Amino acid sequence: MTEFSDNILQWFDDHGRKDLPWQLNKTAYSVWVSEIMLQQTQVSTVIPYYQRFMQRFTDIKSLADAPEDEVLHHWTGLGYYARARNLHKAAQIIRDQYQGRFPDEFEQVVALPGIGRSTAGAVLSLAKNQHHAILDGNVKRVLSRYRAIGGWPGEKAVEKRLWQLAQALTPQQRVADYNQAMMDLGASLCSRSKPDCEACPVNAGCKARLSDRQHEFPGKKPRKTLPEKHTVMLLPSWQGQILLYKRPPSGLWGGLWGFYEVEHPQQVAAMAEKLGLSLFETLELEPFRHTFSHFHLHIQPLLLELKAPPNAGAVHEDQQLWYDLSKPANVGLAAPTSKLFSTLSKTPRQQN
Ligand code: ADE
Repeated sequence: MTEFSDNILQWFDDHGRKDLPWQLNKTAYSVWVSEIMLQQTQVSTVIPYYQRFMQRFTDIKSLADAPEDEVLHHWTGLGYYARARNLHKAAQIIRDQYQGRFPDEFEQVVALPGIGRSTAGAVLSLAKNQHHAILDGNVKRVLSRYRAIGGWPGEKAVEKRLWQLAQALTPQQRVADYNQAMMDLGASLCSRSKPDCEACPVNAGCKARLSDRQHEFPGKKPRKTLPEKHTVMLLPSWQGQILLYKRPPSGLWGGLWGFYEVEHPQQVAAMAEKLGLSLFETLELEPFRHTFSHFHLHIQPLLLELKAPPNAGAVHEDQQLWYDLSKPANVGLAAPTSKLFSTLSKTPRQQN
């Protein structure tokens, strides 16, 4: 079990950063402030904010005594301002309940506003060399890849497995260096979109890499159930040709050629009249569903057989095209349009 941490620590000795502002003269306060700033923000952005913050609020008491407005002012531009408000509140609790000294007990630390299990472990290990595992977003990525642990880490069961693994892999010695190395590894080599597996100190045992599935881990948040929408697509047909119009440049299928649509079959006659089409017969084709990122669209296609040639004089402002299935025009078709065309060309039907 120590092979993993040995390799991580060797990589830290060779490549890890050890001279960041919060790594010099470490105190629980300085590590705490830096960990909160680093939660959703990268190192290069954090550095100047951290320096200004520590210059103005030199210790926990000076932070606790400062007006909240001034604390927020020093956070301006970092985002996620609840982090600053919680930091300020926690400083006041430490001033009032712990004589201004950052607590040593994990249970007391994790009870402070804005400090969860991983941040508590990070501060107590990095600043006080206590033995605690950590599991922030970066470490979740490293570990879920290493053991090919599927599922979204926001799910309790997945998170539980990752915490168990994090604890099992955390070495008895050099916990501070190990935890720092794991965060650095996740923020650098084991990045979300471009992992540099060649340079990784634990690539030999990484299950995701061995099966070339780095991008599957960690699993994504399951999508919420999508709303269901309905439409009726009209396929006016005359001598093997089907009427299309060019959709407006913005919106769904912008600029592509598609079928005229109505919301309800009762509106077909009115639409046909508007388009100058004299209907002979309406045939229901097989309905189907098309899924977009944000909704499901249920499509009822209606084949409209005409009894006379289309009325060339009908008033319409759209660009129209009579699409010949046997001589397909070279135009961009919306996905369900081409799907319906391929179904139609496979299904023999009566011609008029
Ligand atoms: N992200 C959160 N804490 C960090 C740290 N100490 N070093 C690098 N990235 C981090």
